[in-house]
Parts: sequence; C-alpha cells; structure tokens
Amino acid sequence: MNSWLIQNASIVGRETADIAIENGVVTEVGTGLTAPEGARVLDATGLIALPGLVDLHTHLREPGREDAETVESGSRAAALGGYTAVCAMANTSPVADTAGVVEQVWRLGRDAGLVDVQPIGAVTVGLKGEHMAELGAMADSAANVRIFSDDGFCVADPKMMRRALEYVKAFDGVIAQHAEEPALTAGAQMHEGEFSSQLGLAGWPAVAEEAIIARDCLLTGHVGSRLHVCHVSTAGSVEILRWAKSKGWRVTAEVCPHHLLLTDERATTYDPVNKVNPPLRTDTDIEALRAGLAEGVIDVVATDHAPHSSEDKDCEWAAARPGMLGLQTALSIVVKTMVEPGLLDWDGVAERMSRRPARIAGLDGHGLDPAPGVPANLTLIDPAASWTVVPNELASLSRNTPYAQMTFPATVRATFLRGEATVLEGKAQK
Ligand code: DOR
Ligand code: ZN
Repeated sequence: MNSWLIQNASIVGRETADIAIENGVVTEVGTGLTAPEGARVLDATGLIALPGLVDLHTHLREPGREDAETVESGSRAAALGGYTAVCAMANTSPVADTAGVVEQVWRLGRDAGLVDVQPIGAVTVGLKGEHMAELGAMADSAANVRIFSDDGFCVADPKMMRRALEYVKAFDGVIAQHAEEPALTAGAQMHEGEFSSQLGLAGWPAVAEEAIIARDCLLTGHVGSRLHVCHVSTAGSVEILRWAKSKGWRVTAEVCPHHLLLTDERATTYDPVNKVNPPLRTDTDIEALRAGLAEGVIDVVATDHAPHSSEDKDCEWAAARPGMLGLQTALSIVVKTMVEPGLLDWDGVAERMSRRPARIAGLDGHGLDPAPGVPANLTLIDPAASWTVVPNELASLSRNTPYAQMTFPATVRATFLRGEATVLEGKAQK
C-alpha cells in the first residue's frame, strides 16, 4: 500500500533519480533501483519531486461553517495543490481557543487522512483581544499547538501582544500576527490609493500594516520571543522586516500568492471575489514582495486559503467577506511569478513552500528532501504542463477564486503522505 518505486524524477529540480519507498519511508534514492517488495511503480520522467508542501495559513471553517469548507474538503484541496501538511487557522465557530477545539480539528484532520492538519490556537479568548486564551493547555493537548494567532483580527493591544510573546517562550511557540492597526482601517474596503479614491471606497492604508509589524518586531526583540508575520502585503513591510532581521530578532514572515500576482485595480470590477484582507495592493508592492521573497526577507509563501459560501461572497462589495481560495493555485502562481521570471529555482520553491514553513511550524517529518530514512511526504510536479482554473472543478466547497479561467504553469501529478498516494494522476484518491 505505502511502498513505491518512483522512477526518473528530478529531485528538487536537480539530478534525475529513482525514489524507493517502503512502508511510508524513503529507503533509497539512486539510479536503476529495483522495486521494493509489493511496491507500485510510477514513471516520473519529466516530473520534479519536491518535499510535500506545507501551508502555514489555511482556513478550514470547521467547526461552524461546514457549508463553506470542512477539514476533509480543505484537506483534499490541499493534497491536490501538492501539500502534505496545513496549519488550520483558529477563527472557526467556536473559536479554536481551548484544548477541546484544537483537539477536535486535529482529530478531524487525522480521520480525513489526506494531509497532516496542524491546528493553530487563538491568542485571545474568542479572538476578542481582551483575555489571553489557554495557550499552555493547547500546547499540552494532543494537537501539540505551537503557533497561536487571532488571524482575521490583529492582536492590537501592545500589552497583550507582549504577554503572549512572553508566554509562548516556555514551549518555543510562535505568535502569528495579522498586522492591521484597527484604528487606521475602520470601514476599509480596499487598498488606500488611486483606485480607492476613484471608486469612493474607504481605504486600508499600507501604514496600518507597517505600524503593527514595526511595533511587533520591537516587542519580539525586547522579549526575545518568536514572531511570525502573516500575509505581508506592502513594500514598506519588506523594509521593516529586513531591518528587524538585521538585528538578529526571531522574526519570520509569509506572503500570499494573490499578493504576488494581483493588484488593487481588480477592485474596479466591483467583483467581491477580489476582496481580501489585507487588500490587493499596487505593482510597486508586488515588485518588492517578489524581491523580498527571493532574497529571503520574506521566508515563506502561505495561502491564506479563505473559502466563503456564495451567501457570504456573492453580494455587494461592502457586504462581502474578505478572502479567496488558495490551496490548489498556490504552487502554480509561485511558478508564474517567481520561477518563470528567474527569481527562484525549484530548490528555492522547496525552501519557501516546504522546508521553512515546516521548520517554523515545528512539523517533524515534513519539509525534508527525499533521502533514506525520511518519511515519504512528497509531491510530484509536472513543470511543463499548464492548466486552466475552472471554479466548479476545485475541491473546495466554496467557489471564491479570483483566478477563474486563468491559465497557469505547472500541475501536481501526485502527492504522497507517508507513502500513501493522496493524489495520483492529478486526482484525489479519497
Ligand atoms: O481575507 C481574509 N480572510 N483575511 C483574513 O485575515 C481572514 C480571512 C478569513 O477568515 O476569511
Ligand atoms: Zn489575516
């Protein structure tokens, strides 16, 4: 069942070799290997083998909004996107702010069996920013939580942020901040700039993100803890992160595929599929984000996969929830925006979409290149293929993709979770 001989794969875009997998573990990487007993053989000529992708920022909507996504449907979308592990954000209903809820999400993920689902715990009770949640109990639970976030909302109170950063030091946890100074974004509908003035929509200024990132980097440096900055979206944020890293502070950051590709001009369509938080920015921001990701100032790509039901999304712009699907398109968008322009090679993709996110989340067994003794968490990519996004064909229960009918490079041919093919021939296996 979990034994394979993958033949002629390019290992992370380098040499071509066979990968032998026995009982879920890579046993050998080399040329002309013989199949382990009972193994299935897969011809991977022309395909690239990457360590299974790891997403630090996925909204799975269960418990509470199973009409928009379940742990199972989101896991399927993840596997089809080449992921073997996802971190599930805490803004569910009820909020994942207790050991009970994070354990529930963790169990649902294990039962679905398509990717490893690592719950993120809320920083504050009900994401309200007033009282710290039971971080220690969530860390000690079966879900083994290490990342805490109020994502959707910013931990705006600097005293609360400081206490949370101090608290997680005890178990080498990390606070993942949704950086948005709420006093500067009240009523905001889109990026504050030329198009927001034209459209007469309330703007979300870059400084609302940058002010919080600067503050939190200072706090992290002060208390010696770990900060992860979610969905960095502005050129100024990249500058601040570069400065914070130069100080040696333990700060990591992620960028989302949509912020690498789409601009605020999309809002002129008034199609709420383009509404997201933080909002789509400008060409200048895109350029800085791509450069920051190439340079390593931004550590990882995370999807912010944010499914919404049509009831919450197919309405007028101001009433629509922010967020867009991301799991099945992330790799292709990274290829289009980073690999094709020569900003990253495949090793760079593996670093930013698998190895570093696995390290940040502390996910043992993920983010490891195929080598003897390593759990077979792998994805096989066809770099020469292209595909067109058809919303109805996506595995998510929601349809809010901004990429409908767009054609992208690279397809996921197979995904292996501990040697089990969760995706084969581009199709989910359960
Ligand atoms: O666009 C977003 N959607 N940004 C967030 O911070 C939250 C997310 C959601 O939960 O839908
Ligand atoms: Zn967020």
